[in-house]
Amino acid sequence: MPVTSRIAIIGTGNVGATAAYALMLRGIVSEIVLIDRSAEHAAAEATDIADANAIARPGRIWAGDYSDVRDAAILVITAGATPKDGEPRTSVAGRSAVIVRDCVGQAMHAGFNGVVVVASNPADAMTQVAQAESGLPAERVIGTGTLLDSNRFRKRIADRLGIAPGAVAAQVLGEHGDSEVMAYSTVRIGGMDLDAYLAGQEFDRAAVAHDVMRAGYTIGHGKGFTSYGVATAIVRICEAIHRDERVVLPVSTLLTGQYGINGIYLSLPCLIGATGIQRILTPELTPAETDALLASADVLRRTLQQTEE
Ligand code: 2OP
Repeated sequence: MPVTSRIAIIGTGNVGATAAYALMLRGIVSEIVLIDRSAEHAAAEATDIADANAIARPGRIWAGDYSDVRDAAILVITAGATPKDGEPRTSVAGRSAVIVRDCVGQAMHAGFNGVVVVASNPADAMTQVAQAESGLPAERVIGTGTLLDSNRFRKRIADRLGIAPGAVAAQVLGEHGDSEVMAYSTVRIGGMDLDAYLAGQEFDRAAVAHDVMRAGYTIGHGKGFTSYGVATAIVRICEAIHRDERVVLPVSTLLTGQYGINGIYLSLPCLIGATGIQRILTPELTPAETDALLASADVLRRTLQQTEE
């Protein structure tokens, strides 16, 4: 039986290590095991984070191996290739797929039987690769998808309105990538839609959409990678699973006919609890948003073809 308070993180690069640190600070679980192809690097990250234990929340963190994955309730996969500066996430689909298949194969061989959270890029295709390799039901293989983009969308809308990001409900749907859909029709501030709240105030939707879609590139150009935003998305999903929250978050899931899309992972609002995704929600979208979602699905179909062995 899984140790309900154990999370295993595969890949202790910038994203994995930041997620481990954030999980420790939030005190969500009592055990975090780090696995990396460099055992020395995993051990260094674990020791560095454990040095916060005396002040941060108590909890065990160690560098382990796949035998430690068997009893984990949640397996987070961050291992994968990183696009070159300015290159799209899809440019590393083939290389990341090899890495993700290997990680998932080893985890399943070790007896893992919990929920998988995938952040490796390109996120949607890697989640689909992970699900296929694992043989787990799709509801138990979740991609961080556009949860990160939705947080970026909320922040940038809030900044332009001069209000708190938490006051803005807004969703990005589809691909975590260049074809993502800024679903402006889903934006609500205190139950008011964006136009009603603006009451005639200027708001450059296209500029905000571009800023959100380019954020990963902009940050990556400045520091060589991104970490805090996506690590926070990982932690938020782990929290929802670990606490059986039944919260709705936009994450990457396997569509089974929603908006006429079947057999592709992309992000829609999902109800998330202890068993993973319990329901996929289908908000009413404008015709333009629906068309953009269908176009995003086509991009993901082509991306998936690049991962075929
Ligand atoms: C991000 O958008 C690189 O996918 C990563 O931050």
